[in-house]
Formats: sequence, C-alpha cells, structure tokens
Amino acid sequence: MQSALFKQIVDEIKQSGGIGVDRYIELCNTHYYSTRDPLGVKGDFTTAPEISQIFGEMIGIWAITQWEKIGSPEKFALLELGPGRGTLMADLLRATKVVPGFKPEIHLVELSPTLIAIQKAKLSATWHREVPTLDIPTIIIANEFFDALPVKQFIGKLERKVVYENGQLAFNIATEDGITNEICESGLQIMRRLTAQAAAGIIIDYGYTTNSRKNTLQAVKNHKYHNVLENPGEADLTTLVNFPALVEQAAKPCKITTQREFLLAHGADVRAKVLNKEQDLERLISPEQMGELFKVLCF
Ligand SMILES: C[S@@+](CC[C@H](N)C(=O)[O-])C[C@H]1O[C@@H](n2cnc3c(N)ncnc32)[C@H](O)[C@@H]1O
Repeated sequence: MQSALFKQIVDEIKQSGGIGVDRYIELCNTHYYSTRDPLGVKGDFTTAPEISQIFGEMIGIWAITQWEKIGSPEKFALLELGPGRGTLMADLLRATKVVPGFKPEIHLVELSPTLIAIQKAKLSATWHREVPTLDIPTIIIANEFFDALPVKQFIGKLERKVVYENGQLAFNIATEDGITNEICESGLQIMRRLTAQAAAGIIIDYGYTTNSRKNTLQAVKNHKYHNVLENPGEADLTTLVNFPALVEQAAKPCKITTQREFLLAHGADVRAKVLNKEQDLERLISPEQMGELFKVLCF
C-alpha cells in the first residue's frame, strides 16, 4: 500500500509535470522528522553530540569566548537550529554553568513535534518553527541542520526533477555524466539573516570547501545508504553543505576549519583523557571518520 505522502508527491507531479528536488526533499524531510526520533543506534544515524558530551562542551567553550568578545552582556541568547534530542545544548549548559554571568536565554528552531517533546524533557527554552529575530545579542549554533534543507539540482541549464513513470518515482535526468549544480536557497537566505543579525555563530556540518559539482543527494536509513526515491519520508535525505556558497552570503567575516581542528583547538583531547573517552573523541576527530568531512564555520 502506498503512503499518504507518496500519494501527495504523485498528485503534485501530475499537476505540474514534475517537482524540483528541493520540493521533494522538503516534503520527505518534513514528514520524516515530524514522525520519529531518527537519532542513535536504534534510529537511522548518529550525530556528534550523541557520540560524546565533549562535542557540546567544546561548543560551550567557544560560546563563552564569543560572549566575552561582545562584552559579556547580562541578557543574551543562544539560538540553536535543529537541536535534535537537545543533547548538545544540555551538555553546553552543564559545562558552562560555572562561568559567572553566563546565563543565556535558550531559543530553539525545530519543526518536529516528536523531537520538541524530547527537547522539552531536557531544556527550558522557547521554541520557534522558523529562525526568529531576537532583540537581544544572539549566538547561533547549528549542527547538522543545513544538510537537511531543500536543494535544487541543475545539470547544465536543466533542472533535475522527480517525475512519475510506470507507477514509480524517477528522475527526469540522470546525474552520472553531467556536472551537477546544487543550490540551497533556504540555507543561503538563513545565512544572510543570521550573519546580519547575530553577534556570532557556529555552523558544523558535512560538506566541502571546493565544489566538485557532483550530485551529493543521499538517503540514509538504519545507518545504511538507501535509494533516494524509495519509501519517501522514511529515510533521512541530505546533501553536502557548500561552505563557500554560505560564506559568499555572509554579512560578517567567516572562518572555516575542520571538526578535528576545531575540537583540538578547544582542548577536546585533554577533556577526553579526563573522562577516559579517547575512543569516542577519535570518532569525532579521526580524518577517516568525522574529523575532516565535517567542517566548522564560525562568524
Ligand atoms: C540531523 S538532525 C541534527 C540534530 C542535532 N543538531 C544533532 O546534532 O544531534 C536535524 C535537525 O534539524 C531539524 N530540522 C530539519 N529540517 C528543519 C527545518 N526545515 N526547520 C527546522 N528544523 C529542521 C530536525 O528536526 C532535527 O532536529
């Protein structure tokens, strides 16, 4: 039996002749994230905060430095985009509570009612469905948020679309032979807004600093790659983040490092020794695992 989402996708395709990859990602990921907790061993994928508390703690150290740079204001906000289970923010707040005066308002941008319920059990915060404009100095945090946003794909001048053929979803053009340009309009817009309004920000994600113009759209289910067009809304759809494109939109200077460089520069190795969790840190910093594929953009 076909799902209600499959029927909705087919209806939209029949009305328009084909939907952009961005619309397909939007429909699938909204359903996917709204209907489950996808994180952890029992879910579909694991993220850095779920691997080790050290990740949130190091972002806490970074956040204190940014707060001090803006004069240690009494009233300020931490605004996290896509907080998942709320683990990063909970680790950050536990690690920073010893710092006198560091008492942020917590704002979270989340679309998933399932994940909001999990976040509410851990955090006292204000929730938003879209990026808000706050009237106090704001520090932004986003780990694995931008990779889940809708992306348009172009092969030459042709837009790649999802069509319906012989009772199945298909792409109108194959990407194998062509140069693929991926444009994440919502990510670029968010970047413009954040860098214009926020005091500082950190964006961590898997992505590239040199665009090889390949198709990077992928689906992951049960910790394995999955066919992008099979079981829409039941697998996590992502693309690699184009970091130079984000920097181009920025209203403030940005610095990009790797996750490895960032964590080591903030003392993650020392912390791992104290906790006796060197193996967990290795997953986060090893070049063969998350250390170099994941980039850290600070502004
Ligand atoms: C890959 S998870 C990352 C979770 C968390 N940051 C972590 O590192 O564990 C993506 C998060 O972004 C949220 N999300 C995805 N697309 C979103 C959107 N368009 N608007 C708001 N939240 C979104 C998901 O519900 C989820 O919380």
